[in-house]
Amino acid sequence: MKLSSESATIRLADKAKALKQRGVDLIDLTAGQPHFDTPSKVKESAKKALDSGFTSYTQSSGIPELITALRNKLKNESGIDVQESQILVTVGAKEAVFDSVFCTVNPMDEVLIPDPYWNTYGECVKLAGGVPISVPISYDEENGFRLDIEKMRESVSKRTKMIMLNSPHNPTGMVLQRGELESIAEICKENDLLIVSDEIYEKIVFDDSRHYSIGSFDGMSERTVTINGFSKAYAMTGWRLGYAAGPKEVIDKMKVLHQHTVTHPASFAQKAAVVALNESEGEIEQMRQEYQNLRDFFFMMLQKRADLFSSTKPEGTFYAFPKIKIDGMSSQQMADVLLDKAHILCVPGASFGNYGEPFLRFVFANNMATLEKVDRRIEKLALSVVQ
Ligand SMILES: Cc1ncc(COP(=O)(O)O)c(C=O)c1O
Repeated sequence: MKLSSESATIRLADKAKALKQRGVDLIDLTAGQPHFDTPSKVKESAKKALDSGFTSYTQSSGIPELITALRNKLKNESGIDVQESQILVTVGAKEAVFDSVFCTVNPMDEVLIPDPYWNTYGECVKLAGGVPISVPISYDEENGFRLDIEKMRESVSKRTKMIMLNSPHNPTGMVLQRGELESIAEICKENDLLIVSDEIYEKIVFDDSRHYSIGSFDGMSERTVTINGFSKAYAMTGWRLGYAAGPKEVIDKMKVLHQHTVTHPASFAQKAAVVALNESEGEIEQMRQEYQNLRDFFFMMLQKRADLFSSTKPEGTFYAFPKIKIDGMSSQQMADVLLDKAHILCVPGASFGNYGEPFLRFVFANNMATLEKVDRRIEKLALSVVQ
């Protein structure tokens, strides 16, 4: 199985490493993770679990108290009513994405993916022998990034098996509106399609944007695998904890794959996840507010550089995805300019599917002092690029 090469991003990262070795004060805005530490009570519960000897194998699907906590969360927050047997605790949301695709997509099946997208989606489809089909996400300054429902409808073929959704969305920061999700649900029901709905950024939404779970919509529970995890909302990227909930026949297959590949996530991490779910609401809201402040600052900074970038306010996540305004300049070239002249590392839009040009992805999950430094450096860069 052939995976597409990562050479463009690796080339940039290598260049950044060389600059760092020369003592350059590089600002890396590429890592898609919170800059916060895991809430202390979550860490305490993992320590307690370790000290009490909770160090053996657990149930492969997840420890019972975590499954119960997830069932309650899905029912009360997401509006998704599943049996405990329909939930699988995974090694990060990434395992849930892979398992759900691998267990449902057959060779030559087509999977529609709004593009730009987190490139793991396309690679998982290819690993299953399927064909990722890009459905372009539209962009303009007035409406920001929006799903193109008509294009989605037109892209359905006899071979289409699934639509992969991600909202709030990496890399664009788009949050799908209820109406958009309802239209997608109709397309799925009309054409008997499955949905994989990756909701990992659900807690990071701003202003009036609201997160909706498509699996809670009428007639969608039997065709939706809802994926979520602890990495982003709870600042737990290194803990490797995610989960999937969906139709029993799909989850049962995923359980078998999971048993034969990873067995289960670390025992003590699962204990801590129960505390994260049940006792961290205050910390999560604090982090969300801080992301919103950082988003406001970053957006204002981009707006000041209207000679270089066109941008709209991210509705959720911690990503900004401005469009490069300089005629003929690709995302690779602009990322090089930013690295060489401003010592800022970002991800070229070309790394996110077929429609990531000409955009750049910046992570604004960082401390304000660093973002202020970014602002000053980009200000200088604007002068040197324009002159
Ligand atoms: C859209 C999306 N889904 C899933 C993940 C991975 O989450 P996890 O750390 O739970 O595997 C990421 C990480 O960047 C992501 O951006």
